[in-house]
Amino acid sequence: MPEITETAEIGVNTDVLWKEIGGFGAVGDWHPMLERLDISAVGGRTTRTARGKDGSEQVERLVEFDPSGHVYQYTMEQSALPVRDYAGEFRIEPVGAGASRVIWSAHFELAEDADGRAIERVRQFLHSGTENLKTRYGPIPGYDYGTSHVAHSPVTLSDLRALEHSVGWTAQDAEALKMAADVLSDQAEALVDSWRAQIGAQPHLAKWFVGPDFKPDEAYKAAVKKRFVQWVIDTCTRPRDQAWLDYQEEIGLRHTPVKKNKTEQAQTPELVPLRYLIAFTAPVVLGAKDFLAKKGHNARDIERMHAAWTKSVLLEIALWSRPYARGQLW
Ligand code: HEM
Repeated sequence: MPEITETAEIGVNTDVLWKEIGGFGAVGDWHPMLERLDISAVGGRTTRTARGKDGSEQVERLVEFDPSGHVYQYTMEQSALPVRDYAGEFRIEPVGAGASRVIWSAHFELAEDADGRAIERVRQFLHSGTENLKTRYGPIPGYDYGTSHVAHSPVTLSDLRALEHSVGWTAQDAEALKMAADVLSDQAEALVDSWRAQIGAQPHLAKWFVGPDFKPDEAYKAAVKKRFVQWVIDTCTRPRDQAWLDYQEEIGLRHTPVKKNKTEQAQTPELVPLRYLIAFTAPVVLGAKDFLAKKGHNARDIERMHAAWTKSVLLEIALWSRPYARGQLW
């Protein structure tokens, strides 16, 4: 019995990705070979009828749907493909807090009139779906974490351990931050939106996103936002090693004339003054608490996660301040 599995690694949290692509009817939105898809649910029997761009029609019946396990199974009821006893499974697994693996598999028997290309045609269908997901959720432009495009931080790992000590970092904080990763990863965009709203409401902050035509540079804002959302997840999940230190240096620089605007070739003012980075830490720290409380954790765990988040952000702001300071003054 031929069996086919196609996979895609996507840099999106599993719960978020499942909501976007995991519905039995959702494949019609993201599969490039499909023209349209209709769902029908009659008497406990759910089917989807997919019409291909080549005019073909395929009817599949839902057998099992498990949203908490991020998986569904289905069988083929009708198809132009020369196959029978076709059973498929669509599954999304977490790969850390901010990434997922999509696993789409099928096994089937070949029909008597099948030629040698039948297996390839099934593979092609699954493959073009997973490839399109990779394109759709491709790498974030300008997010150069761990690459040679990033500045090298002159801060040593032992300097970093001393700073961690100064913010009072403990093993318990590390545990709490892991918990915060689960709580925040599918809320990261909403969290960033809440901060963005505060920046937008203060002209003296909003001006650092304004172009030469005196209007907000929307393309710049959108591009930076994706990296800001990723930063929320990174803050909770990335190990504090040399690559992490280097990206802290890079983020600091991207607020200064050395690198601001460079990633997007934007033409907004060239400096976010250090004092605003420090002052805006208050909303970034305090505003996270409501989001940490949204997933039903007890008050003690919320406090622990909030303390770990606060220490982590302060540690980062301390590192981002380095490119602003002269020599030994840092
Ligand atoms: C605690 C405070 C702040 C945090 C946590 C923060 C975080 C970030 C992050 C993560 C990025 C993207 C870095 C990357 O490219 O990967 C970024 C970029 C940026 N931030 Fe901030 N930021 C803060 C304060 C501010 C303030 C007060 C402003 C002023 C409105 C500001 C304006 C910008 C701008 C304009 C960029 C884009 C820089 C560029 O690449 O051209 N930030 N910030």
